[in-house]
Amino acid sequence: MREFLVAGNWKMNGSIAANGELVAGIAAGVPAGSGFSMLVCPPFPYLGSVGSALEGTAGKLGAQNVSEHAAGAYTGEVAPSMLKDLGCEYVIVGHSERRAMYGESSFQVAAKFQAAQGAGLTPILCVGETLEEREQGATENVVDFQLNAVLDAAGIGAFASAVVAYEPVWAIGTGVTATPEQAQEVHKHIRARLAEVDAGIAASTQILYGGSMKGENAAGLLTMPDIDGGLIGGASLKADDFLAIAAAAAQG
Ligand code: PGA
Repeated sequence: MREFLVAGNWKMNGSIAANGELVAGIAAGVPAGSGFSMLVCPPFPYLGSVGSALEGTAGKLGAQNVSEHAAGAYTGEVAPSMLKDLGCEYVIVGHSERRAMYGESSFQVAAKFQAAQGAGLTPILCVGETLEEREQGATENVVDFQLNAVLDAAGIGAFASAVVAYEPVWAIGTGVTATPEQAQEVHKHIRARLAEVDAGIAASTQILYGGSMKGENAAGLLTMPDIDGGLIGGASLKADDFLAIAAAAAQG
């Protein structure tokens, strides 16, 4: 049985003071319930302090990006081993903002995915189509291309210790959420694509939904058979909003 994962992607938000308040708020209100995990992904400079604040709580630590290189002359980059050193368990790779604004190709994302796993981190691989691609009926092709780049590079075995996040670009930060049925359709497709290669691994891979997920729509999304949690941006910045999503996950 797959557990739910409720993951907060803070993006480029926060401060020492605000993070302290947010983590304390989250830690104080984690709903009782088994079968789900909570994760926060702060900006790089705060990983150490947020990691310390999470100690003794149910929250896990992750990062938002990682270099595909192990060490060396890569000014401004952060190596997977450094994230591990700071206590990260997870790292997001291939977020659509990285792909669109920083030119990350699916091949570079695959390299990051592999580098993260090589350091013992669990990558959260983001895939998803733009509105234009959806309107052209290309959603499945786009998601397959993004997924295949990683399957080709890392193999299906790598998905035994990885998470996939379906994040339709048109739903990210827009307030427009995919309906549970729209999301389920793509989640089911992703699982079927993995199952073509290995049905057992496909059945155990967590597939999160991301894109304007909030307390009000979380329960509907999380009741879908192939949706195993959320990758949450805006609503992860306020403890109450994030906890409302966690409460939906705790209820199963
Ligand atoms: P959002 O962001 O919840 O603000 O739409 C989700 C994401 O980008 O991971």
